[in-house]
Amino acid sequence: MKRREFIKNTAIIGGAAMSLSVLPGTVHADKGQPPQTLKDPENPSTLEKKHVPLVEAPTQVKKDQWFDVRVKVGFMIPHPSTPGHWIDEIKLLVNGKEVSEIDNDMGGISSPDGCFRIKLQGPAEIRAIIHCNLHGTWTGDSVKVNVS
Ligand SMILES: [Fe+2]
Repeated sequence: MKRREFIKNTAIIGGAAMSLSVLPGTVHADKGQPPQTLKDPENPSTLEKKHVPLVEAPTQVKKDQWFDVRVKVGFMIPHPSTPGHWIDEIKLLVNGKEVSEIDNDMGGISSPDGCFRIKLQGPAEIRAIIHCNLHGTWTGDSVKVNVS
């Protein structure tokens, strides 16, 4: 194979892989890998600022009473939402168990943030795991919620 043909064919294969990765409902390329997170909280990278989720929840709630949990993506810079680059999944975990999920099938319309309404029977640690269609899976610190 001539060098020019090799480069052309390689580019086509790479392009096909790229377009598949942005189709809604496709399997995440990083599935099974641990989520990415802040490596150095004192010096976050731009990618970390845009992808590490921030969970906002009250520190104290009443047992069995609904309250809102907001997940901001990212924790320092709002993640973009364009037709080619967006947050396609936000999962909410309570005490390590996934309890709810937001799926955004299209970019450019859906906000990179998510809001959940939940209730608790006892104290809990709440965490979010999010997925960017281009930059993979991310998580951040959990938030403790006390219940009275
Ligand atoms: Fe991204």
